[in-house]
Amino acid sequence: MLISIVGSGRVGSSIGFLCVSNGLDDVLFVNKTKEKAIGEALDIANAIPANSKISIRGTDDYSELVGSDIVVITASVDIYLKDRTENIGLQVKMVKDIAEKIKEYCPSAIVLMVSNPLDVLTYFFQKQSGFSRFKVIGIASSLDTSRFRYYISETLSVPQSSISNALVLGEHGDSMVPIFSGVSVGGNPLFSLIDSRDTITENVRNYWKTLRNFKSRSQFGIAKNTFDVIDAIVKKKEIVIPASIVLEGEYGEYNIAMGVPVKIDQNGVSEIQKIKLDDTEASSLKKII
Ligand code: LAC
Repeated sequence: MLISIVGSGRVGSSIGFLCVSNGLDDVLFVNKTKEKAIGEALDIANAIPANSKISIRGTDDYSELVGSDIVVITASVDIYLKDRTENIGLQVKMVKDIAEKIKEYCPSAIVLMVSNPLDVLTYFFQKQSGFSRFKVIGIASSLDTSRFRYYISETLSVPQSSISNALVLGEHGDSMVPIFSGVSVGGNPLFSLIDSRDTITENVRNYWKTLRNFKSRSQFGIAKNTFDVIDAIVKKKEIVIPASIVLEGEYGEYNIAMGVPVKIDQNGVSEIQKIKLDDTEASSLKKII
């Protein structure tokens, strides 16, 4: 299979490194700056396992996307400082251009959107490309879920392995909705161990800002969450994660992309799963729209 990554910055190169160092399959970096794509490919080529047949290369020529089975979009016109929607106009224009190229060169690819604003770009890519909505997957709610698990673990001083069914749905933004009602810790309902959801909710929503007090922007968490989806598709496994997808009636919503629980297999999203929400969670999700 060919895994193409549009944008070989921190996140794109980290995703490429995970794919290559795990011997997953061939990787192509496409970057508007050819040297950046080639440089990352040359570096990561030294992480190809000795017994592997895979290759990695870099280019600025979109026509080399031909034959891609998976295309990951991590490109960004600029970094955002205060809000993920800061460069929305330029990002939407960029993604529409990329959509036209992917439609031309690899129309049967599964597309994983990583660029921000995530849900908006997932939506615009699907509309611009005309791809099945089940083949356009926005990766972010699984990252938010990792952060939810992290803060539960920190708050209760328990290992993350003791936490089941943590889930964050909705917008990959300030209104994201951690779903507390289904979480158990060491077999006990989370609600029997905490008296409010507010602090953890705020911490999860602001994780990316907290991180920026220490490093310029997130990199490895989003890379690993994206790699997990690529790994499932390439190895023909089934995974269930929260991810952004265009909704047509699910959760009572139409013509919008947001994070919901989905089952993913080698063909993309095979099922959008309905889960029980408590009243607070249901009304918080509604507020996003
Ligand atoms: C973050 C970026 C990936 O939440 O949106 O860190």
